[in-house]
Amino acid sequence: MTAKLILGTEVQATILKEIEAEVHKIKQERGVVPGLATILVGDNPASVSYVTLKVKTALSLGFKEVQDNQPADISEKDLLALIDKYNKDDSINGILVQLPLPKHIDEKKVINAIDPDKDVDGFHPVNVGRLMIGGSECKFPPCTPAGIQELIIRTGVETKGAEVVVVGRSNIVGKPIANMMLQKAKGANSTVTIVHTGTKDLAFHCLRADILIVAAGVPGLVKPEWIKPGACVIDVGVNRIGEKISEKTGKKVAILRGDVDFEKAKEIAGSITPVPGGVGPMTITMLMKNTLNSLKFKLGIA
Ligand code: GUN
Repeated sequence: MTAKLILGTEVQATILKEIEAEVHKIKQERGVVPGLATILVGDNPASVSYVTLKVKTALSLGFKEVQDNQPADISEKDLLALIDKYNKDDSINGILVQLPLPKHIDEKKVINAIDPDKDVDGFHPVNVGRLMIGGSECKFPPCTPAGIQELIIRTGVETKGAEVVVVGRSNIVGKPIANMMLQKAKGANSTVTIVHTGTKDLAFHCLRADILIVAAGVPGLVKPEWIKPGACVIDVGVNRIGEKISEKTGKKVAILRGDVDFEKAKEIAGSITPVPGGVGPMTITMLMKNTLNSLKFKLGIA
């Protein structure tokens, strides 16, 4: 049996259309549009390509978008001052500082400097706390976990009582998605296990999973024999394993691989995300949704 493909690209198109319509309506009724400031420090190729896509998407939806590229040697003080400027800017509803940052900058200080009510990444400790409490308390679920949950819901996979195994414990994906899946809420209410580099028997835990969420950053880590037949497999890995010339554009592009051996896994799983085209597009989509929601919270219409 071949698994149902969970296509983030298709879900993205649907959600972006909904966001665009809402932006249009708010603009007509209130005369304002969501504003997103995107700060990129340096020229890490992966970060450049992510930020370029985020900016392009925001503009296509009618957002105000301020792309603020800074040199890799910007001082921590100057970066914090820049964040403060956007915190005070009324036309900006969301501030995104692309991670990782150069080593001389303390990432924690930068995240803590963003106004929690403009933290559309959901990385500020206040928003991490709101996420843990759950329900209406949570204003900005982090974008990749929010995208994963949306994909699971739209695929129609039963989450209530399901065994969810999350591979990876990062602050950006592993910890938040585990927390979201255990909430008593739609698309959640699951029994959650987090496995990581300290786990003794990864295969044992993965094999128990009705929903297996893999965010380890290790290409091909999850072997097909670790997958329970019929399971829903969400592969968050976007590993650059080389470069090739694109047939479409003739330009150099990265060759991407997920954390799951996709070709073999799709013969065992019930549903599975491809890489690319699975979770990736959802991260950007949920960033747009969080930015729109930030404006709606401010206007009191959320
Ligand atoms: N780097 C990798 N993923 C993300 C993300 O979701 N947000 C930010 N700001 N940086 C990232």
